[in-house]
This record gives sequence, structure tokens and C-alpha cells, in this order.
Amino acid sequence: MTETAADARCKPTAQFRCIGCASSFQEAGSAFRCPACGDLLEIVYPHWDALPRPLAFADIWLRRRASPLPLDQSGVWRFREILPQETADAEVVTLREGNTPLYPLPRCARSAGVEHLLAKHQGMNPTGSFKDTGMTVAASVAKQQGFGWVACASTGNTSASMAAYAARAGMRSLVLVPQGKIAWGKLSQALDYGALTCELKTDFDGCMRVLNEVVERMPVYLLNSVNPYRIEGQKTAAFELMEQLSWRVHDHVIVPGGNLGNSSALGKAFFEMKHLGLISRLPKISIIQAEGANPLVRTMCETGGKKLIAVHPETMASAIRIGNPASWKKAVQVLEGTGGTVEQVSEAEIALAKAEIGADGIGCEPASAVTLAGLKKFVKQGFVKANESVVLILTGHLLKDPEFTLKFHLGDLFPAGAAQEPGIAQAQRRPVALEATAEAVIRALGAADRCAGS
Ligand code: F0G
Repeated sequence: MTETAADARCKPTAQFRCIGCASSFQEAGSAFRCPACGDLLEIVYPHWDALPRPLAFADIWLRRRASPLPLDQSGVWRFREILPQETADAEVVTLREGNTPLYPLPRCARSAGVEHLLAKHQGMNPTGSFKDTGMTVAASVAKQQGFGWVACASTGNTSASMAAYAARAGMRSLVLVPQGKIAWGKLSQALDYGALTCELKTDFDGCMRVLNEVVERMPVYLLNSVNPYRIEGQKTAAFELMEQLSWRVHDHVIVPGGNLGNSSALGKAFFEMKHLGLISRLPKISIIQAEGANPLVRTMCETGGKKLIAVHPETMASAIRIGNPASWKKAVQVLEGTGGTVEQVSEAEIALAKAEIGADGIGCEPASAVTLAGLKKFVKQGFVKANESVVLILTGHLLKDPEFTLKFHLGDLFPAGAAQEPGIAQAQRRPVALEATAEAVIRALGAADRCAGS
């Protein structure tokens, strides 16, 4: 593939900037915190103001889809003009991440009460979650910097993704997960990809605390989303979404919130697209949390986003079982900058929404389904109007957590006698045990038809 003149002109010199005190740095320390005030760092591109024709990028990115080069086939590196250049120059670790589908969800739209509903399915990435889009960038940096070990604390998906990219790069990986609190699909991935997997008797926030100390004391490269290179990679999902929508901005983007890296990344992407002139307005980006793991919701409601209210998290949507999110300030900036809002949803609302997304033939893991559950509330509240266009960000694949899905359909997810969300019983689809005869199966077909017609 021939590089265009625009490629050659675009030699970004990214800088790290503190989101708290705005100090700038050429290098980031091992914990990716501001040496002056301790806040998180973000990557900025001062040279963008002098870019001659940023709009030409859109054509370059689209053309790369036809290229056989690994860098172009990746739905992250295709967008390398908006990534730190040093990463694209290095030997990139890629599993051809990104390029994820944008699906219409007609039944979910009806159930939520909106006319236009789309899902950007980030669970269709190589390891089954959105984490791959950030991991390809940050793992490439780790490799380039010569690290032998990379590490993360995780509720499961980050560890699965990190372990895969580390294996591809020939690096060792250290995973800290809360014991008994991550879905089996994710745990099995970390093991298969060869990670040193440590189950700690604590929650995600406890794992993060331990890891921060390990990173201070040992030469291991931190791959949690406080690492701003992760955010840069995750950002590309929003560029890709806009490309899929022919750069016409939807009214709302709804995203699950855990450690709040992803909402921060998507928000940063939209701010940057507007700055570059690729889009003319911003969608409202809203963040949904589980009722039992709702630090951002409480932070917004009780302090107006000024001070983090940490909580002891509890939810069956284990991916977002996080009480002390690292990127909360970045997420607040996204809410305030786009006019989005926060909402919390119950365990029953999550389970029902997940089954509804499944019934549209898409499927996702529980944490992703909070988006549809949140949308239903937004429509009732009038925050989302029926004729407004909405994109849900589905973050993880259905097969990540088959235990949750099975328990739901078998009626074992909630304790017997627990109050039922209306619609749950109709959404449950139990397997039927039958005699091994055609007659029995045909009778079951007839019964199913009658049931559907009634
Ligand atoms: N959805 C899924 C499927 C996730 O795995 C996560 C986070 C989120 C949503 C929330 O994203 O943290 O950027 O706000 N999973 C992390 C992990 C924490 O360790 O896999 P966030």
C-alpha cells in the first residue's frame, strides 16, 4: 500500500497532559500519574492545530480497508493518524482488532420505545471485548520499550485481552483478579493465553491497589486503562462508528461504566473529531451503571461530579463490579462536555435487557446490557425522545459469561420468591427435555407455535 502525502505530513508528536493541573510531559512514569498532582494523564496532539487537511483522513481510513497489510487490516491502526505516531512506527502487536459491526436492534427499539436503535458490538473483537482496541496500542508500546512482563488488575476482560496480546508479542503477563468474581469464559482465556493468573481474596479495587504497589517495585508494565495508550486505542471505536454512519452524528451514545476508561475514550474521540472538523456536533454520551456498583451515579447526584463517592460494589454484571473507578474525572468531563447523563439499573433490568438483545440475534454479556436497560429509563424520563437516534455500545460477547445466561433462562438467577421484573418470565427460554422421537419434537413445535400466537 502506498502511503499518501497526508500520511507523510502527519508525524504526530504526542504529549502527556495531566487532566488535573494541565502540566505537560514528554514521558509518563510507571503508574501513569502526574508527578506534580497525582492525577491521571491523557495524550494530546499539539501539532493537530497545524494539520493542513484533516478531512482527507476519512478517505485514507476507508481506502485502507482494502489493503492486505496487517496494520491496515486492524480497525485500530487504520486510524493511525489520530494515534501517537511512535506506536505506529514500532513493530505493532495486532490481532486485527476493531472493524466491529454496527447492527440495527429492531425488537429492542420497540421494547425501549424508540424508532432508531443501533448497537456497535465491541464484543466482536478478537478476544470478545472492546479491550482489544486499547490493548493493541498499549501492548505495542510495552514491547517497543523492551518490557518482559505486562500486568493488569481485572474483572476478566482486560486480563483476557492482555494475556492474548502479551502472548503474541512474546511477553509474559501477570493477571490479578478478584477470586470467584470473574466469569469463567474470561478466566479460561487468561489461562489459555498463558498468563500468570493470581486470584486475590478481594474485589477489583483491591486488586488494583495491590498491582499499583507491584508496579512501583518491579519492572512490569501497567496495562490497566489508567495507561493512556489504552485510551487512545479504545478511542478508534468512535471514529469507526462515525465512519459507519457516514460521519452523521447520532443523538445519543450509551455506554456501560465500570472503571470508566471506555466512556472517557469514546468522549475523547468525539471531542477530537469535532476539533478536526470530521463532525459538526457531539452526541450526548450517557453512562449506565448497575445499582449495586454505582459510584459515578452517586458522584454526579450527590456532589455534582466534584468528588468521587466510592462504594462497595455488588452486581452479577461482574465486568462492572467496581466501586472506586480510576477514570471518574475523565468520565465527568465527558458527561459535562457532551450533555449526557448517568443512570443506574437493577439486576432484574439488566437480565431482562440482556435477553432482549439476545432475542434480536445479537447477544452480549450482562455488563453490556445495562445500556438497553438504561435507554428504557431514559425514554420514560423523556431524556431520549422516540424519534432520536441512539447507539448502544455493547462491550462484551455473549459467550464470556454463559453461566449468567443459563441461570437466567433456567429461572435460577434470582432467589426463589424474589420480586419479578415484568417481562422476565416471557423472556426466559428453558430447554425442553423430550423423548427421542420425531413425534415428541413435532408436538413441541406445535406448542411453541401456539405459545407464540397467543
Ligand atoms: N463492559 C465490559 C464487558 C467490561 O469488561 C468492562 C470493564 C466495562 C463494560 C466497563 O468499562 O471499565 O472502561 O468503564 N472491564 C474491566 C476489566 C474493568 O477488567 O475487564 P470501563
